[in-house]
Amino acid sequence: MLSLSLIFSACILGTRAAKSNPYLVAYPSFLNVLPEPFDRPTFLTNLFYQTTLPSNAPPQYGAAYDTLHNASFISFDPRFATDVIGSATGPVEKVAVIEDGSQEMPMYLKDEGVIFWSGNDLTQFRTIDVKTYEVKNYTTSVPVPNAAAGTIHKGQMYLGNFGDTTVHGGIWLLDYKTGNATMILNNQLGLSIGADDMTADDRGGIFFTDTASRVPRTNRTMQSPAALYYLRLSTMSLIAVDPTLIGPNGVVLSPDGKELYVNDNGDTYNPPNNINAQVLTAGKLGSTVYVNSAGPRTIYAYTLSPTTGLPISRRTVAVAEAGFLDGMKVSSSGLIFAAVYGGVDVYDPDGTRLGRINIPDASPNGKPVEKHVVNIVFEGNNLWCFAYGGVYRVQGLLVKGDPRLG
Ligand SMILES: *[C@@H]1O[C@H](CO)[C@@H](O)[C@H](O)[C@H]1NC(C)=O
Ligand SMILES: *[C@@H]1O[C@H](CO)[C@@H](O)[C@H](O)[C@H]1NC(C)=O
Ligand SMILES: *[C@@H]1O[C@H](CO)[C@@H](O)[C@H](O)[C@H]1NC(C)=O
Ligand SMILES: *[C@@H]1O[C@H](CO)[C@@H](O)[C@H](O)[C@H]1NC(C)=O
Repeated sequence: MLSLSLIFSACILGTRAAKSNPYLVAYPSFLNVLPEPFDRPTFLTNLFYQTTLPSNAPPQYGAAYDTLHNASFISFDPRFATDVIGSATGPVEKVAVIEDGSQEMPMYLKDEGVIFWSGNDLTQFRTIDVKTYEVKNYTTSVPVPNAAAGTIHKGQMYLGNFGDTTVHGGIWLLDYKTGNATMILNNQLGLSIGADDMTADDRGGIFFTDTASRVPRTNRTMQSPAALYYLRLSTMSLIAVDPTLIGPNGVVLSPDGKELYVNDNGDTYNPPNNINAQVLTAGKLGSTVYVNSAGPRTIYAYTLSPTTGLPISRRTVAVAEAGFLDGMKVSSSGLIFAAVYGGVDVYDPDGTRLGRINIPDASPNGKPVEKHVVNIVFEGNNLWCFAYGGVYRVQGLLVKGDPRLG
């Protein structure tokens, strides 16, 4: 693997970069023209290195896919090797096995030395010690069912959840030390709301995404539309900032606070309502995740008004090559790290795909479902990836996270 990766890297990056990291492979340029007939049979769970090729394809094609499949880091642009993955960056390592389930809202609590997150099983909140990897349960004073979003604003932790079939979701305050969880919003003029991801700005507000179709709300007849929302905490004004999104999910501010990145994971209504729905995962909890194969898998950038802090225009940054985009973070250098099926994609805000942090196949039971990364968080120069079924970590990146998110 090492020698092949060096050859491929040398083709693209030159010898110096090729020697920089043994786990990094450059996407070889000869893959820009594939032998016919080639195909991506399902782009929900087939990654680019699983493109099918004719049986008589020259052997270097299959060998290249095999090498890319096994690599921890795949570069599409030389800046991935010079700006993100250093010579001492360690491989993607699995540090905790978690039973199947969505692992949401990881937040690095520096003073506690832990990352706090929420799973969608009964245990729900957990912490992992960043040094020992010890996983502990965390209990809130009252249940916060289907909690998926979290952010810290002026030392105060906010959570967002979808609720379940008996109670509505909404926005919460959490006192981490005591576990005191207090709901501050559970409706918009009587309509159900939910939050999948959230991020606080410096103006006393929280951007959050309500992916209305994502979690079944069987007892709710009416809910607010799937949208990017802004909650102004001083007045509790709830503003639907962009209701044209179909399945808004990850949301994060650029480090200079001038842009907001939001992704749209499309329509996850179950068949037969949606003839384009394909199964991405069948979870242990009996829930199946469907994705609209014809729907958006897009990261947008909103330019924020310097006076109001709210979006004044929107442009497309990138489209995922498989599955759907999930949680996002930014580095202090301004790069966008987006969780996606297969790993984490790193983009320049201009849309250039710099590289992929590649989650290995080998999970406790080897199920492909576990290659979906739900959310990520930086701990200094380390990146923690919370995937279906496990927690993965990369140590020693050349970038740190945006300090406002730590
Ligand atoms: C990729 O990993 C598989 C499974 O560990 C192994 O059989 C194969 O030889 C590896 N291929 C390369 C090119 O490293
Ligand atoms: C966490 O809680 C679950 C039950 O919800 C239990 O099975 C598990 O043993 C607990 N883990 C720890 C480390 O206490
Ligand atoms: C909501 O619906 C579920 C079935 O989908 C049912 O078990 C539950 O009792 C209902 N809750 C209420 C409050 O009606
Ligand atoms: C929990 O937090 C809320 C909001 O900050 C506060 O009003 C309440 O008194 C707290 N409850 C306890 C038991 O500390």
